[in-house]
Amino acid sequence: MEKILKISGVPVTELAKQYGTPLYVYDEKRLIQQCQSYKQNFVHPDFTTEVLYASKAFSCVGMLRLIKEQDLCVDVVSMGELATALEAGIDANRIYFHGNNKTLEEINYAIEHNIYHFFVDNLQEADALKACIEKTDKVLSVMLRINPCIEAHTHEFIQTANIDSKFGISIYSRDEIKVLIQSLKTHKQIVFEGLHAHIGSQIFEKEAFIKEVQTMFSFIKDLEQDGYSCPKLDLGGGFAIHYTDQDQPIPIHEVCQTILDACAQQQVDQKTHVKTIMIEPGRSIVGEAGSTLYTIGFSKQTPHKRYLFVDGGMSDNIRPCLYQAQYDADVATQMDSRKDQKVCVAGKCCESGDVLIPEIKLQPFSQGDLLIVYSTGAYGFSMFNNYNRNLRPAVVFVKDGKSRLIVKRESLEDLLKGDVR
Ligand code: LLP
Repeated sequence: MEKILKISGVPVTELAKQYGTPLYVYDEKRLIQQCQSYKQNFVHPDFTTEVLYASKAFSCVGMLRLIKEQDLCVDVVSMGELATALEAGIDANRIYFHGNNKTLEEINYAIEHNIYHFFVDNLQEADALKACIEKTDKVLSVMLRINPCIEAHTHEFIQTANIDSKFGISIYSRDEIKVLIQSLKTHKQIVFEGLHAHIGSQIFEKEAFIKEVQTMFSFIKDLEQDGYSCPKLDLGGGFAIHYTDQDQPIPIHEVCQTILDACAQQQVDQKTHVKTIMIEPGRSIVGEAGSTLYTIGFSKQTPHKRYLFVDGGMSDNIRPCLYQAQYDADVATQMDSRKDQKVCVAGKCCESGDVLIPEIKLQPFSQGDLLIVYSTGAYGFSMFNNYNRNLRPAVVFVKDGKSRLIVKRESLEDLLKGDVR
């Protein structure tokens, strides 16, 4: 094995020298492969299908251009994500607007920019949407977000479909939902298109998705019996990825097939008339394609631990602090050595909890070596925060031995730009 790790043919030392550290590095081929894998596998003879990239996982103009090239739709949850998608040249009618508390400013901005697809999360939002669209002569397509009340086995903070979830209208509020659908269907400027559900994130069990499909189809049957057709069903995202060797995610082709076969079976069993099935993968498109490079700084020994400090931490990756998320890493400049050094990888933020990896065996290292943390491509950059006024790292894409800058490293000038003097 070579001493210096290469990502898509580019030595990490070169990347660190050219762009500085910390640095988010994405393997562009891997991003493309993931998109293609969804496009090719999420197809079924009984349905039309659509894959929406959940851009909250990683949104910037460069990434969304790639999504445009790969011909996926995009789901956005804020004016910022929406503006990013538009800036990247994504067609307004390929953008779907999510969110449990879209502000009037956001709704109006979306309408102004000809966004057609909206997910409505609650009753009041439906009223707000009607009020906004009535000021124009436009027409909107609306899908309703239902909380199917299925608890998937994932961290409590990333579960989204338990009974007290803030997202969607509970599937148990059937009468309320029917009244709402009726009011949407009869509105002159709204086309009611169907239902949406999302059961959580980083889900490993096929059974959870099958249960979601069954629950939604049986609900749609009930609606159809009352005369409300639901031609579209969006089942959300949540497909798990590999962070450490403990993780065994369902391969994309299998997850796609499982979901679509379950839909086809339910369509027969429940005698429903669903035409389109949609999914919204985020993490599984970008997660494993991204890694973070850090420069190793000081280290210290305490009675029970040996700390390795890096030049980033909870500002560029909040996930270990927030969800006890686990990561794998290597000393990327000592790859030919054995991983026999037990350390705790900690960041530079003023917070005891600023630990990226509580315990890991790494190659022997010294100050100035580079550390690579794998699978940071989802919800790393997108959850960056300026705690301690740390500067946001650059993002680069690498492919075939070449790197290109996607997001510039934040400068002190950028940092201070908004401060009123
Ligand atoms: N669709 C909806 C409606 C969602 O709420 C989400 C994620 C997705 C799709 C995409 O899910 P994915 O395929 O990425 O699992 N910050 C957390 C994850 C929060 C996910 C929120 N919703 C984390 O770092 O794990």
